[in-house]
Amino acid sequence: MRPVALRTDRLLLDAPQWADAELVTRYCQDPLFERYLTTPWPYTRADADEFLGRFVPEAWATGAELTWAIRRSTGGAILGVISVRSTECELGFWLGAEHRGAGIMSEAASAVCEWVLDGGIPGASAVRWRAVEGNVASARVARAAGFRRIHPVEPTVPTRDGGTLPAWHAIRHPTVAADAAASWDDVLESPR
Ligand SMILES: CC(C)(COP(=O)(O)OP(=O)(O)OC[C@H]1O[C@@H](n2cnc3c(N)ncnc32)[C@H](O)[C@@H]1OP(=O)(O)O)[C@@H](O)C(=O)NCCC(=O)NCCS
Repeated sequence: MRPVALRTDRLLLDAPQWADAELVTRYCQDPLFERYLTTPWPYTRADADEFLGRFVPEAWATGAELTWAIRRSTGGAILGVISVRSTECELGFWLGAEHRGAGIMSEAASAVCEWVLDGGIPGASAVRWRAVEGNVASARVARAAGFRRIHPVEPTVPTRDGGTLPAWHAIRHPTVAADAAASWDDVLESPR
């Protein structure tokens, strides 16, 4: 599959480039990534080179994982990354620390879900999300993007060392469920 660019009011989502490596390296050294993601830790420039130079293009080519760089609509510096693993249609995302708190990820996540569910991934009828229990910022993004919390038998997420941690899970269908927002009430406060 060839990389597909997506646009929202404020953002351009396009293929991550090797030129993004310096910023990706810095962003991924954020201690929150050690806690909440499975990206390598400690994160080095070589990890960014491998991610951008090999993993991202190969995963687009095979369709295994579709990864976008998040940029302002005029292009320019990478702000963060969002991806979908096509087998389970699972959404993953992160933003550089200085770009958080402005609704950027909620906007990007909604756009990617709508693209996936509108035929971007043929046959996909739902997008899944999960995060380590307590990752409130990620859960607020999922709620804002129309996900409804679900309670699987094993509510876990894999860790970078092959273990698992307790996790929150959610699902987004083409039509946002009427009880989607309320499904977060026991773990999240009202939207700001
Ligand atoms: C998850 C992440 C991308 C969210 O970024 P963000 O900039 O907060 O996203 P948005 O601005 O779109 O905000 C979404 C909501 O979270 C809220 N929020 C942001 N930071 C928060 C925090 N630390 N605690 C609680 N709420 C927070 C925003 O106010 C907004 O709330 P609202 O929709 O109720 O108004 C960012 O925190 C991040 O990169 N974290 C580290 C990596 C990570 O955990 N990725 C997800 C793995 S599952």
